[in-house]
Amino acid sequence: MKLIENISQLATCAGEGGQGAMHAIGDAAMVWEGATIRWVGPKRELPVEYWNAERIDAQGGTVVPGLVDCHTHLAFGGWRADEFTRRIEGASYLDIARAGGGIAKTVRLTREAGADALLNRARGFVREMTTLGVTTIEAKSGYGLDREHELELLRVYRRLAQAEPIAVVATFLGAHVVPPEYRDRREAYVALLIDELIPAVAAERLATACDVFVEESAFSLDEARRILLAGRAAGLAPRLHADQLSAGGGAELAAEVGALSADHLEHVSEKGIAAMAQAGVVAVSLPLVSLYLGQPPLPARRLIAAGVPVAVATDFNPGTAPSYHLPLAMTLACTLQRMTPAEALKGGTYYAAKALGLERRVGSLERGKAADFAVIDAPDVEHWLYHLRPNACRLTVAGGRAIWRAPGHSGARELA
Ligand code: NIG
Ligand code: FE
Repeated sequence: MKLIENISQLATCAGEGGQGAMHAIGDAAMVWEGATIRWVGPKRELPVEYWNAERIDAQGGTVVPGLVDCHTHLAFGGWRADEFTRRIEGASYLDIARAGGGIAKTVRLTREAGADALLNRARGFVREMTTLGVTTIEAKSGYGLDREHELELLRVYRRLAQAEPIAVVATFLGAHVVPPEYRDRREAYVALLIDELIPAVAAERLATACDVFVEESAFSLDEARRILLAGRAAGLAPRLHADQLSAGGGAELAAEVGALSADHLEHVSEKGIAAMAQAGVVAVSLPLVSLYLGQPPLPARRLIAAGVPVAVATDFNPGTAPSYHLPLAMTLACTLQRMTPAEALKGGTYYAAKALGLERRVGSLERGKAADFAVIDAPDVEHWLYHLRPNACRLTVAGGRAIWRAPGHSGARELA
């Protein structure tokens, strides 16, 4: 049994109460046993049965649930720094894609990379993410775009999940774009996804969700519907990249197929917002993309007012968001999307877990849930996301065990 105390603020991020309800407790304590939380509350109410638990000192910091990055494209070959410069010089994301850059370039480099190289690189990313307080990461395929390489990416994620002490949850994104070799026979590619790849992914249990990029340059609404329904029938929960570059009815489709989430939504329509609210679809905001592409973010205030939960994720990928700094994304959710720090935290924890269908296990600090949490060197959540530092996380605990300790954090020694 372990007890963490000397906590200036603990935000449980329990689901009830809506976006701004992070359920803060001052001078808090939390008890866990093995991988599971036993008790959370004000320290003065600590039940006597826990008084002898092994004590860990939070050094007056803030405790939050382990962060959940619910949208990443974690494994890929190469980078695209040249496109970063070209966009600054005036080229658009679509100009670059039409000239053979963009996703197609990363597909070429990913196919060449080999599973071990992809794994080693992704492992390095994951380790750095855990130093920021992240304990659950969603990871999409989508840079293989043929049978061999899509399955290779998903098997890399499986190996990563087995080797690392955090949760890695894979999503099948074979429908990222139509690969160049199918450019003039896109129907054959859709058929390959539906008839071969989705069954193969499901048979090997390589993913829990199926995602489609719905966009003029990617997949139409009709194609997406067929792919998502085939995935759903095979046990893969639908998710969508929707309404990113133009309003395309993606949010409405997400509601129609009962998707866990619709992500991006920079151009979501009022009808789409209403449909998502009605169907209980989570909106995943990706403010690092707004930062990198210099484009307006999704209308978070309108979504929240309509009752749609808004998650915050990085969208880490080599094109539109080459960063996996989730606390930075949360600060950007505040400044660009006008979400309060409490709302942004709920978006990077409970609602992110909900976008993965994992909210019963992770994303909040409550009795019976996973002992996944981060100790932040700040007096409270507001101060943490306001005073943005390279890394304010002092200690990351996943499954009850310390997986990252900032040098000099004495309270962490007991968890070694
Ligand atoms: O989420 N929108 C499509 N996919 C990625 C971008 C991928 C890339 O440019 O490599 C995204 O933004
Ligand atoms: Fe994405």
